[in-house]
Amino acid sequence: MKSNNSNTIEIELKKEVKKGYFGNFGGMFVPPVLEPKLLELSDYFDKLKDDDSFNKEFHYYLKQYVGRPSPLYYAKRLSEHVGSRIYLKREDLNHTGAHKINNTIGQILVAKAMGAKEIIAETGAGQHGVATATAAALFGMKCKIFMGKKDAERQQLNEYRIRLLGSQFVTTERGTATLKDAVDAALEYYVENPNSYYLLGSAVGPHPYPTMVRTFQSIIGTEAREQIFEQEGKLPESIFACVGGGSNAIGLFSGFIDDEKVRIHAAEGGGEGLILGKTASTLQMGIPMVFQGAYSYCIADKEGNPIDTNSIAAGLDYPGVGPEHADLKEKKRADYHCVTDKEAVDAFKLLSALEGIIPAIESAHAVALALKLLKNKNELSIINISGRGDKDVDRNLI
Ligand SMILES: Cc1ncc(COP(=O)(O)O)c(C=O)c1O
Repeated sequence: MKSNNSNTIEIELKKEVKKGYFGNFGGMFVPPVLEPKLLELSDYFDKLKDDDSFNKEFHYYLKQYVGRPSPLYYAKRLSEHVGSRIYLKREDLNHTGAHKINNTIGQILVAKAMGAKEIIAETGAGQHGVATATAAALFGMKCKIFMGKKDAERQQLNEYRIRLLGSQFVTTERGTATLKDAVDAALEYYVENPNSYYLLGSAVGPHPYPTMVRTFQSIIGTEAREQIFEQEGKLPESIFACVGGGSNAIGLFSGFIDDEKVRIHAAEGGGEGLILGKTASTLQMGIPMVFQGAYSYCIADKEGNPIDTNSIAAGLDYPGVGPEHADLKEKKRADYHCVTDKEAVDAFKLLSALEGIIPAIESAHAVALALKLLKNKNELSIINISGRGDKDVDRNLI
């Protein structure tokens, strides 16, 4: 910020923050100590995203390390079972087993450019923790991962992986000891250590994270669009993804948002159904409010306090959602559905048995929604398989 007048600084700040809005949603609602850090991050990101050598390095690692492009696979037996033509975008085949690595490679390169010495991150299902610990190992950076105790217990394989990758693993017992609490713990550490780099794992939080995470995840939609044209010679009629904070979904959706004829369906972690306290279906049960740095939807009580959520999928068990999804809902460009634990477990088993693909329980929510909406529709469709289910197989889901 090149200004020596405090009023000018304030105006510049407001202009900058305005950039982080999707319709009415988004922004940067953070303690004053973090504001300059996030504005600096926003500046760096703005420059790097158009920098040829940054993009060359990002795409080098996506190809040679992550294994991209991920296949777009025609799921013949699933298609016959459902009565539609269904393709699966195989993010489960990425190195570390989920879409999260796309974002962590992008952000660690940003962190490197900024001269960061320590990386911190939250994790729910542990996939973002693993992907961050992996990127930190790859670039020889110190790393600390925050995870709720309940999540660490239900996703133990990922705790082992994070430790093995050389990161420090910190559990928190606050609140419900799930993703929201891990974000709070990481934010608290960030406020106390503003020289660390907070590598946020979803399209949530204050500006510039929702825009930055969307940009790095948009590789999913870019590839899927090219691949469906290659194999079918046309656009899909509908696309499906699960939504926790919303990064895998916005990654896929970004490739098709401008194609008005493509219907966009998102599956939220419905838990036991649309009952406050028993669901994580934010865009069904939430209200617009400021939560964890941004104005978006959140499941809250009348006083505006976030309410405990419940979903079998640690990665979806979160009361907030990214601001771009709130905007897509309000604009009616995408629809958001409650998918219950039971429906997700049924889909988890079905996809495994029909296609030999064991999805993450998060991704199984998208499959379950497709099973409902595509029944005998003969519709050409893409489901994002955001991750693989290794982390879920010892959870007695069968
Ligand atoms: C495999 C998988 N899919 C989906 C999600 C949900 O996150 P997001 O909504 O940011 O894609 C997670 C989160 O941990 C995950 O591990």
